[in-house]
Amino acid sequence: MIPLTGYTDRLSAAPGERIAFKISSAAAGPYRASLARVVHADPNPAGPGIKTVDLAFRFAIERPSRVQPLVLGSYARVDAAAALPATGPLTAVALIWPTLAASREQCVLSRWDEASGAGWALSVGPAGVTARIGVPGAAPFTIASGPAPALRAWHRVWLVIDPAAGIVRVGQIPLAGGERREREAPLPPGTGPGAAAPLLIGAGWAGEACEHWNGKIEDPLLLGLAAVAPESLALDPLLPPAGLLAGWDFSRGIDSLDVGDVGPRRLGGVLVNLPTRAVTGARWTGREMCWRHAPREYAAIHFHEDDVHDAGWATDFDFTVPEDLPSGVYVMRLAAGAHADELPFYVRPPRGRRSADVLFIASTYTYQAYANHARGSTDDAYRARVAAWGAYPHNPDDHPGYGRSTYNRHRYGSGVCYSSRLRPMLTFRPRYLTFLDARGSGIRHFPADTHLLDWLEAQGIACDVVTDEDVEAEGAPLLARYPVVLTGSHPEYHTAATLDAHAGYLAGGGRLVYLGGNGFYWRIARNPAVPGVIEVRRAEGGIRTWDAQVGEAYHALDGNYGGLWRRNGRPPQRLVGVGFSAQGPFEASYYRRQPGADDPRAAWILEGVKDAVLGDFGLSAGGAAGFELDRADPALGTPAGAIVLASSEGHGPASWWCRRSCSPTSRPSPARSPPGCSAPT
Ligand SMILES: [Fe+2]
Repeated sequence: MIPLTGYTDRLSAAPGERIAFKISSAAAGPYRASLARVVHADPNPAGPGIKTVDLAFRFAIERPSRVQPLVLGSYARVDAAAALPATGPLTAVALIWPTLAASREQCVLSRWDEASGAGWALSVGPAGVTARIGVPGAAPFTIASGPAPALRAWHRVWLVIDPAAGIVRVGQIPLAGGERREREAPLPPGTGPGAAAPLLIGAGWAGEACEHWNGKIEDPLLLGLAAVAPESLALDPLLPPAGLLAGWDFSRGIDSLDVGDVGPRRLGGVLVNLPTRAVTGARWTGREMCWRHAPREYAAIHFHEDDVHDAGWATDFDFTVPEDLPSGVYVMRLAAGAHADELPFYVRPPRGRRSADVLFIASTYTYQAYANHARGSTDDAYRARVAAWGAYPHNPDDHPGYGRSTYNRHRYGSGVCYSSRLRPMLTFRPRYLTFLDARGSGIRHFPADTHLLDWLEAQGIACDVVTDEDVEAEGAPLLARYPVVLTGSHPEYHTAATLDAHAGYLAGGGRLVYLGGNGFYWRIARNPAVPGVIEVRRAEGGIRTWDAQVGEAYHALDGNYGGLWRRNGRPPQRLVGVGFSAQGPFEASYYRRQPGADDPRAAWILEGVKDAVLGDFGLSAGGAAGFELDRADPALGTPAGAIVLASSEGHGPASWWCRRSCSPTSRPSPARSPPGCSAPT
C-alpha cells in the first residue's frame, strides 16, 4: 500500500461547502494537511515546470496517522440473516457460472463466525464444490464433491445439513446436462446452521470478507428442511418452494445496490464493492438484449475478487471552502516525514453566480474512467524519468490494491465496467506521467489540463472551474452564465445529461470551445443510488480495450444502451463539428493552415498568425496533433457551413487505426504495433 494517500467525498465544492478527506497514513507520527492551488502540474523541466501557490496560511491541520485498509472483492451482505433459525435442517442452493479456477476456496454462500468457528459455507475449490461446517472447539469439517465445475457453464450447487439423519451432503449438476455428483458424510455432533454472523453471497468471512467468488451467482436460496433432491430446486418468485427461508431474486433492483429476498422474512441485503449486474443469467435465451425487457433472464450477478466501490474510509478532517477562495484547481497536500501526496479538488464559483467570463469544465468523468489505469508499461526507463523529474511516484501497475480502471480487465478476462472515485485515484494527481514520451511530457487528463489553465492565467484571462458532475447536476443553465465555455484536453466520457447541457448551451448561442480529441465519445451511466460511480459498457463498435459480453450492452445503472454516443444517435460531429476518427502511438505532428482560416467569418481566430504550419512543437508528444485524431464529417453531423481552419498531417501511414477497426478480429495489421492502442483512447 502507498504509505500516505487518500480521497475526498466529492470532487468540487462552492464557497461555504465542505469536502471530507479520508486519509490512510502509515507514518509513525502525525501527518500534516495543507491547502495549495495548482497552476501547472507538468513536471517536465523543458516546460514551465510545477507551479503551485502555497495556501497553508488559509488551511493547515495536523492529524494522527492511521492505516485505513482497502479490501477488494465484491459480495452481497445480508445482515438480517440473524433472523434465520439457529438450529434444525438447512438446504442451501444456488446457480453458479464460475469464471476463474483458483487454488483456494471461492465462497458462493456462507454464514461463518470466525470467532467461535461456527457456521457453514458452500464454496468451490480445487476439490470441487465444498461444504464447510463449523465444529465448536475443533477444526472445521469439510466435504467436497469433485471435480471443480467447468468454467463458464451454469451449474446448480447445494449443501444440505440434516441433523435428524445426522448427515451433511454437498453436490452439483450442470444445467446443460451432465452427471449429478453428490457426496455425503456424517454430520459432526453438535453442529448446526446457526452462526452469529451475516450471510454473505459471493464471499466468506474471517473478520473481513475473504474467499471471494469469481463468476456469476443466481437465485441463491435457503430452505428450512433437508431437501431430498436439491438439484430440482428452483426459485420461482411467484411460487416459492416449500420451506423457503430466504431466496434472493437478483432481477429486482438491478439499478441499485439492493438484493431482494422473496422469502417470508424479506431478508434483503446490500452489495459491497459493486459486482456487475445486468448480466445474462442461467435463463437467458438471447431473445432480449436489454435486462429491462426480460429481468428474470438477467437474474445473475457477476462477482469479482478485484471489484471495488467505496473504500469506506473514515473522514479524517473536513475542509470548508472559504467564501473568498477563488474558483480553481486546488490540492490538499499531505506530508509525514518522507511520505507525501496531493489530493486534487475543484473550487467552483459561488452558486448561482459567475466570477469570470470563461468557464473551464474539468473532465472528471474521463479522469474517473481512466482512474488507476494499469497499462503494464512501467519499465525502468519510465521509472528513471519519474525519478529525474520528481514526477508522481506511484503507478497503478505497482498498486493493484486500489482497484482498476475501465480500461482494464478483471483477472479472468472480462472488462471492468465500473469506476468509483471513492478510493485513491493514482492517475488523478499532479505530476502523474502516463507515458514515457520521447518528445514531450507524456501527461494526460488532470495534469495535462493544467497546461490550459496555466496559459489562461499567464494571459490574464480569469476562469471559473466546474466539473462534469456539476454540469450533470445543473445542466445548460450553469453554462449559460458564461460567454465562453472551454473543455479540457480529453472530454471523452459523457452522460446524456452532460451532452444535453453542452447542446443546450450551444443552442442558446453559447460559445463552446472543444479543446480535446476523442471527445464526447463513450456513453456512461450514473445513478444516485450507487454514489461516486460511472459505468461504461463498451458495446458494438469503437476503438476499445475490451468488448461488452454478449447480451450485456445495457447499463445496469440506468438501463440505457451503452457504447459510443455515435451508436446512440449522437455523434460528436453533431455537437462540436468533429469526432473521433483514428488513433495511433503517443506521438504528434502539426496542423497546416487551410483556406477556411481566411474566411471573413473566422479570420479573427488566426489574425496576426502568418504561419502555414501550426503547432509543430510543444510539451505533448512534440506537436499539437496526434495520438487521437478527430475529423469533420458531414455524414455524421458536421454542420453545413462549418469552417475548417487547419488540418493535421504527417502522422505516418503505418501506425494509425481507424475508428471501426480495433477489435482483435477486425484489426488491420499495422507495420508496427501502436503502443497507444494497447491502452487506447
Ligand atoms: Fe480516451
